[in-house]
Parts: sequence; structure tokens; C-alpha cells
Amino acid sequence: MTLYRATVVDTPDDPFTGGALRSEEDAGLLVVGGAVVARGSFDGVRAEHPGEEVVDLRGGVLLPGFVDTHVHYPQVRAVGGLGMPLLEWLERCALPEEARLAEPAYARGVAADFLAGLVGAGTTSAMVFGAHFAPAVDELFTAADASGLRITSGLVVSDRVLRGDLLTTPGRAVEDSLALAARWHGTDRLRYAVTPRFSLSCTDEMLAACAAVLADVPGAWFTSHVNENRAEIAEVEALFGGEHYVGTYDRHGLLGERSVLAHDVHPRDEELGVLAARGASVAHCPTSNASLGSGLFPLRRHVEAGVHVALGSDVGGGTGFPLLKEGLQAYFAQALLGDDGYALAPAHLLHLATSAGATALGLREEVGDLGVGQRFDAVLVRPRAGTTLDVGLRHASGPDDAVAKVFALGTPADLEQVWVDGERVGA
Ligand code: GUN
Ligand code: ZN
Repeated sequence: MTLYRATVVDTPDDPFTGGALRSEEDAGLLVVGGAVVARGSFDGVRAEHPGEEVVDLRGGVLLPGFVDTHVHYPQVRAVGGLGMPLLEWLERCALPEEARLAEPAYARGVAADFLAGLVGAGTTSAMVFGAHFAPAVDELFTAADASGLRITSGLVVSDRVLRGDLLTTPGRAVEDSLALAARWHGTDRLRYAVTPRFSLSCTDEMLAACAAVLADVPGAWFTSHVNENRAEIAEVEALFGGEHYVGTYDRHGLLGERSVLAHDVHPRDEELGVLAARGASVAHCPTSNASLGSGLFPLRRHVEAGVHVALGSDVGGGTGFPLLKEGLQAYFAQALLGDDGYALAPAHLLHLATSAGATALGLREEVGDLGVGQRFDAVLVRPRAGTTLDVGLRHASGPDDAVAKVFALGTPADLEQVWVDGERVGA
């Protein structure tokens, strides 16, 4: 048993439906077996549990661990390829690096770099785009299991358009995916995600193979890309006889509550209707959308259509792992949209980076806030004295202002400790 003493801020109630930040300046959180079992004023919880060890986390802000709903494991070494739109960036920057993961020893090093990046950014749960090679995905799951993070991932499959060394066949895709799922799905904090790269690189036969894997693995997840870039969308529509992009997945029964589609920068209204009806989530990847010039995400249209949205870093199209940066960039993008934008308050940013992600990944019963009954997945923001964030937090006018400062100024250097299930990770 451990009694944590901290300023705690979280978003148990969705700000998109009227919820506000919950904040306690001097809170006590009693954690037993990795779960929060009591929460209240520190003095109150202390009086009820006088004998427990106290861990003093004052001088910072304790937040729920961040949930990254779209991040590419094989691209950790490819971050920073600026100046290209999506399809050129894939060909020149991302895919040559992804091809190197054919070598398992290389993949092992990348997996270590990748997981260090996640935990360093305070991310405790993630939907991870895997690699095109089964041994490389095995390396990721092995390292993820040892890391303690909550990771959902799978073999990335494609059978056209991409360079030849990244392609497979529908038959091999099924065989390799089922073998990986049998080994890892439901092991500790790991789950399997069926992962066609995007329908541009997948024939109908490959998407049908994905549906077969999904049907064969109870509780498996589905993730892919959608409506990211106008040239990409035009090619997909041409390849699928004019069908809209969401429809290319939906016609194979791939969309449901365990589906996460990344980007969706240029959806038709009809597609938003399908996503809402299926209960699928969208991973909004703001720095990637800006860096690749994909466009400004229509958040208001998603919210009005009832499509669930969370945040993704999209490393390496995105510019790094921190969801603090993604939250800030999401705010910028909505501000730049003017009247079409959604005016994001600090509570929305924290929600998008934590509880919204937990909902998207089906983990909301366990994580996403720091209330009683939740697992203790948390990150302590405690900047070095004298940094601008430290100054800002000491002079914050209240919790909303403090959270705004964390998103505006916070970096991995300010994240002092990270926990999953009450255990320190990445220490
Ligand atoms: N669409 C297909 N593959 C990718 C990728 O690796 N990154 C992004 N941003 N979009 C994609
Ligand atoms: Zn992506």
C-alpha cells in the first residue's frame, strides 16, 4: 500500500459533453495492488490510513498517464523528415527505414528506442502500428511486455503499391497474424491489432484476410489510416471504383467499437455517419497533419457527428512522442480554423490526451483518470526549479491555467516519474 500526496488533475467527465477539470490541490491517493482504493484530501485519507507509507509528490502536478492512439514503432528513427507530403514522405523517408526491420537484431534496437520514447513522454498506453515483418513485431511485443506499458499492436500488412520487400500475400498475412495473436493477444498488458497499412496498399482480398483474422481472434483490435491527404484519397477512390475511403474498410466489416482510424482530415459527411454508427474512433494526429501539410482536422464536424476522437503522435510523420505537444498543436489547428474550429479549453486537451484515448482503446474502465477504482497509471509533471514551466505553475491562477501551462510549456524533461498499475516504468 502506498499513499501518494500530490496536486492531482484529471478529467473523469468528458468536457465535450459538459465535463470540467477535476482538481485537488493537496490530495491523498491510496494505491493498493496497482489500483486507487481511496482518494480525498491528503489529511482526510491520512487520518483513515495512518500507517501507510507516504510518497510526497508535491511541487508538481500528477496527471493520468497519456494514451497515444496512433504511433508507428518502425518510425522512431525517421522522425524529422520535413518538407514532403504524405506519399513522397512514405517513399523517401518512412518506408526505407521500415524495410530495415527485416533484420530482427535491427528491429530489437528500434523496439528499445521506441518504448523509451513512449515512456519518456509519459505515455502509458498506446495503439502501436507494428512492422511489416512478423519477427520484428515479435521483438516489439517481447520488449513491450518487459516495459510494463499497455500496448496494442500487430503485423502491418499490404499487398500492393509499396516497395516489394514490404509486401505479403493475403494467405501469409493470415498465417503470420494468427501466430502473433496466439502468442501475444491477452498476455499481460498486450493485445493484438489487425493492421492493414491503408486501403491504398491493400486489395480487397487483403482486407478480407484482415476480416478473417479479426473474426478468429476474440477481442482483437483493428487499426489503419483514413482520409489523410487529398492525393491519397483520390487514389483510393480510383482503386475502389469511386467508393469512399471509410467504405473500403466498412464493406469488409472491419469497423466497430474496437477500431481506431488515424487522421480523417478530409472526411465526407457520409463517412462521419458510418464511423459514428459503427462506434469507431478517430486518432487525431495534429503535428503530423501540420508537418506533412495534410490539412486542419475538422474536429467540430467529428464532435457534431458523434465520432469519438482521441490523440495520436503519429511518430514518425508526427514530430515526436509527447502528447503534450500534440494537445497544443490540436489547439493551434482549431484556432487557425476560425469559426469552423472547435475552441479547445485546457480540460479538452487533458481529456484528449488521457480519458478520450482510454475510451478509444477500450481501457476506460481501467485507466484514463485517477479516481477510485482506476488503475494507478500516472505521470508526475514536476519541472526543475526556475524553468518557465515551474514559474508558470507556481503563479497559475487555478487548475485550468495550470493545465494550459503544462500543455504550452511541458516537455519530457519535466516528467519526473511514470507509473503503470502502480509500478514505476522507465525509471
Ligand atoms: N498512411 C499509410 N502509412 C502511413 C504512415 O506511415 N504514416 C502516415 N502518417 N500515414 C500513412
Ligand atoms: Zn500513421
